[in-house]
Amino acid sequence: MIDLDLTEEHRLLEQTVREWAAREVAPQIAELDRAHKFDPRILPQMAELGLLGICVPAAYGGAGMDYLSLGVASEELEYVDTSLRVILSVHVGLNSLSLLTWGTEDQKRRYLVPQAQGQKIATFGLTEPAAGSDARGIQTVAVKQGDRYVLSGEKMWISLADVADHFLVIAWSDMEKKRAKDPSGLSAFIVERAFKGFSSGTLTHKWGILAGNTGHFKMDEVEVPAENLLGREGEGFKIAMFALDQGRYTVAAGATGLIRACRDASVRYAKERHTFGVEIGQHQLVKEMLARMEADYQQARLLWLRSGWLKNIGRRNTKETSLAKWMATVASERAAGDAVQIHGANGYSDEYPVGRYYRNCKGAVIYEGTREIHALMQADYLLGYRA
Ligand code: CAA
Repeated sequence: MIDLDLTEEHRLLEQTVREWAAREVAPQIAELDRAHKFDPRILPQMAELGLLGICVPAAYGGAGMDYLSLGVASEELEYVDTSLRVILSVHVGLNSLSLLTWGTEDQKRRYLVPQAQGQKIATFGLTEPAAGSDARGIQTVAVKQGDRYVLSGEKMWISLADVADHFLVIAWSDMEKKRAKDPSGLSAFIVERAFKGFSSGTLTHKWGILAGNTGHFKMDEVEVPAENLLGREGEGFKIAMFALDQGRYTVAAGATGLIRACRDASVRYAKERHTFGVEIGQHQLVKEMLARMEADYQQARLLWLRSGWLKNIGRRNTKETSLAKWMATVASERAAGDAVQIHGANGYSDEYPVGRYYRNCKGAVIYEGTREIHALMQADYLLGYRA
């Protein structure tokens, strides 16, 4: 039987994350955003709440919750700021859940356990300066030399690049297949910041998610022990796509939280602000924008709930997750634009949060599969070009 009600456990998590983010982050987020400052004190607090190992089993140091919990937490975090949800997306969604699924017992013990406990922070490296949507177009190489691989290349637009200890890196291990862009020549590696030849830097020219750390890292002949190969040689593309199934899910649920934040701020303002002798909520064109936000919120929520439910029962959900991510992020852009519009000139000032929502929402329409990539994927499923 389908049950769309969240359990007591989910409700408790929702309330806990909501109260923590409202108390500890919301009061300072506008200042952090203005100062382009990532606050590292957030990480131990998120670890304390169990968020950094949220759906990692207790046997590997995690909180042992389900995928719907990951969605609930993502929605609540992004309700306050996108930068908070991004931490969950990369550390849990893209990295830890890939280690959980593809890792050996030894890899889980050495990397997953400290990540789930929040002692080590992790991220993911697929995108490069010249390859984003075209994931097969990456240039990073991993050359096998005895009992190690030597990795060289550069990764770009990496969330937590300057903060993370562990990096899940996708690289070509078969140069013949690299030339042919055959994805079965890609492999995935666990790389530590401490490895010789690794360096990272922060991107300073972003205009959104300013309280989040985003950067790049470079591997200059980094020697990675063969036991840090995740999965088998040649499984890197599948691992990357699997990782994105989890990352995109957190983005979808997060964007849903952003729509709710736009809706709530707009409803508040519509009852405060008066024009032409009435509160602006009385004007039909404002009502239409508010109603659209509510419809978008409910639709986006149903889509990530379906995706989380499929994950919980262990069914492949690439198609559904792609749709959830596409719809929620596009709707969040509409909601944020309308929220600014409802706030009028005040929406254009950073005295109100909606300008930050407007800047923050755009990133997710681009990262983890652009709007266009997801549209193409959906069409390809319909046409039978993708199964
Ligand atoms: N799970 C498991 N296997 C999968 C899979 C999944 N979700 N998706 C694909 N595969 C498998 C396929 O089954 C196929 O295997 P077989 O050949 O054995 O059948 C193989 O992988 C190749 O799959 P496709 O043919 O679907 O690959 P494609 O080249 O057509 O994919 C694309 C095209 C969908 C556009 C893909 O390149 C894509 O998703 N691009 C966007 C990349 C993206 O989202 N990048 C953002 C990264 S985020 C980041 O790096 C920044 C950060 O902050 C960390």
